[in-house]
Parts: sequence; structure tokens; C-alpha cells
Amino acid sequence: MRFVYAPIFWIVIAVIAFFAFAFSGIHQVGADVPHWSITWHAIGLVREHAVERRLADIKPPPLDDPALIRLGAEHYSKMCTGCHLAPGMGRSELRDGLYPAPSNLTRFAPAPSEAFWIIKHGLKMTVMPAWGLTHDDHTIWAMVAYLQKQPRMSAAEFHALTANASAGEGHDEAPAHPRPCPCRHRLRRRPRLRPAPPPARTDRVAETRRRPRAAGRAGNRLMS
Ligand code: HEC
Repeated sequence: MRFVYAPIFWIVIAVIAFFAFAFSGIHQVGADVPHWSITWHAIGLVREHAVERRLADIKPPPLDDPALIRLGAEHYSKMCTGCHLAPGMGRSELRDGLYPAPSNLTRFAPAPSEAFWIIKHGLKMTVMPAWGLTHDDHTIWAMVAYLQKQPRMSAAEFHALTANASAGEGHDEAPAHPRPCPCRHRLRRRPRLRPAPPPARTDRVAETRRRPRAAGRAGNRLMS
């Protein structure tokens, strides 16, 4: 009988320990504090094997076509440089604040199949987006083709290649979903953060008092 109850006992202890940990609030969730080393390695291990398992059916097309590389460079220059940098770009403020830090793709060319899968599906627990929701496979392969060349490219070559990138791509508009968005209901069901409580009455009074005076000062400055 003890044989049956022992695992149940330890499961109950684990559940209690988890909730004690969660409710204590001691875990650091800020992106400016690194993971524990064990968490970091565990995430890396899970990710490596999860991606590898999904590569078998991916067959890269020829990646040397200059038109494909140009198309990839144009998309890359609009969507990726803030995180992964580009030739001649030393750093970016966005990238400096991210954790885990996006890889510097001017330093190495990622393996084609793996890069295709990651660009298409994104990576949970990082900020790498799933570009397959808004881009077809051809465009994603184009970016993979460009990434094979990028480490050997100068800033001048990159600018020449992307000089027409603003023409007609529409990246500044809201991206259209190619199929009915499956993420809607999932988004709605996500646990909501509790709304911040309204400011205390005294603060609100102080706020309304402060505003007209600040506006007045701005007005004076404008007139003077
Ligand atoms: C908001 C930031 C962000 C943007 C924008 C972004 N990525 Fe990423 N990307 C990441 C992060 C973070 C990772 C994971 C890095 C890690 O943990 O190794 C990643 C991983 C990757 C990888 C795997 C590289 C590796 O280290 O094995 C590739 C390839 C990649 N991204 C390509 C792209 C491309 C192409 C675009 C533009 C279409 C893009 N990314 C846009 C943040 C970003």
C-alpha cells in the first residue's frame, strides 16, 4: 500500500511547493535579470531537440538565385535588423534590451532548414516572431538565401541590395493574415492581467490641480 501512496505524496508536495513558489512572487521575471544557469540549459536542450525533430521533411530549394537573395534582403532589412543587425550596423537599442539576445546574423550563416523552420514558426520563450503567419514559404526561403550571404557582405553591398526595399511591400501597414486567424480565440482566453487600481483620490485631485498649471506654463512659453 505504501508503494501506491508514496508517489501521490510526492506529487502533492510538488504541487504545494509550486504554488508556494508562485504566490511568494520571488521569481525574477524582468528581462534584465538572466535565467538561472540550469533554466538556460534546460530551455536550450528542449529547443534544440524540438526544432531538430521537425526538420526531416524540409527540403531547401537552390539558394543561389540573385533575385531570391535580393527579395530576402529587402524583407530582412524591413523586419529583422532591429533584432539581428545588418552589415555595418553596430548595435540597436531594441536588441540591447532583449533577453535572450537575438543572435547577430551578420557573424554566421544559420543552417538553411533550421533557419527556415525558426523564421516560419518563431520560438516560444524568446521574442522571435512566427513570420509564417504573414509570409509564404517562398519569401521565407528568400530570407534564408540572403542570410547565407550576409556574413560576407559589406555595408555598401547591403545598402545597394536594399535600396528599393520601401517600394510596394506594405510592411508599415497592419499585416493581413493569409487565413482566418487561429490565434484570436486563444488570445481571448489568455489569463488577463488584473487592471491597475484607479489612482487614490488624493492623487487624482493632485493630478487635476497640476494639469491646468502645466498647460498654462506651456501656453506662456509658446506666447513668450
Ligand atoms: C523582436 C526581435 C526579433 C525579430 C524582429 C526577429 N527575430 Fe529572429 N530571433 C530572435 C530571438 C530572440 C531569437 C532566438 C535567439 C537565441 O536564443 O538563440 C531569434 C532566432 C532567429 C534565428 C535562429 C538563429 C540562431 O541563433 O540559431 C533566425 C535564423 C532568425 N531569428 C531569423 C530572423 C529573421 C529572418 C527575422 C526577420 C524576418 C527575424 N529573425 C526577426 C528575435 C527576433
